[in-house]
Amino acid sequence: MKLTYYGHSTFAVETKGKHILFDPFISPNELAKGIDVNKLRADYLLITHGHGDHVADAESIGKRNKSKVVSNYEIVSWFEQKGLSGHPLNHGGKVNFDFGTVKYVNAIHSSVLPDGTYGGNPGGFVIWNDEACFYLAGDTALTMDMKLLPLTCPKLDFAILPIGDNFTMGYEDAVIASGYIECDKIIGCHYDTFGYIKIDHDAAKKAFADSGKELILLPVGGSLDF
Ligand code: NI
Ligand code: MN
Repeated sequence: MKLTYYGHSTFAVETKGKHILFDPFISPNELAKGIDVNKLRADYLLITHGHGDHVADAESIGKRNKSKVVSNYEIVSWFEQKGLSGHPLNHGGKVNFDFGTVKYVNAIHSSVLPDGTYGGNPGGFVIWNDEACFYLAGDTALTMDMKLLPLTCPKLDFAILPIGDNFTMGYEDAVIASGYIECDKIIGCHYDTFGYIKIDHDAAKKAFADSGKELILLPVGGSLDF
């Protein structure tokens, strides 16, 4: 399983010969200007919630790749009206695809689509197959619901957590979250993109290291193998 970061909350996962793209927000992101959005592949587009900084490039990438949109019912319906195909989920539900299992889990945040359409309740994803299991939290506060993951999902190999504060939890709360989800390898997201969410990288890494955990801040375009 190969994980690639495209800035903000956009990640790609390659596994079992499939390309999965999460929350594409590339063309409006100054920090991701080195990424050619027209070259990104996506058999599946997984969308955590409806905010513009998570869906900006979804329609164009989805149409070019004939991607299947996987999200909550409201967001999938919105993309289906634009001509994309999708698979709707709701919280606590899981589905098996050809690359592995996807479970849609709780997040504490808000969700409205760019044109004002109701975006349902926001969520995160836990994804697993025989290569690895990971959690992509989406935009969320620290929540006790995270304690459900070790009870209901395979052991996590890594987790992608927001750490930028202001609109989501900050890195201090993300350290607590990593304890709740019982995962010591955390990849940070949702930081530095705008002024509100600029963070001190060294302080964030130290907060995790002081708790015996690792915070990885991937460069835009950077990859890791699991
Ligand atoms: Ni959001
Ligand atoms: Mn966001």
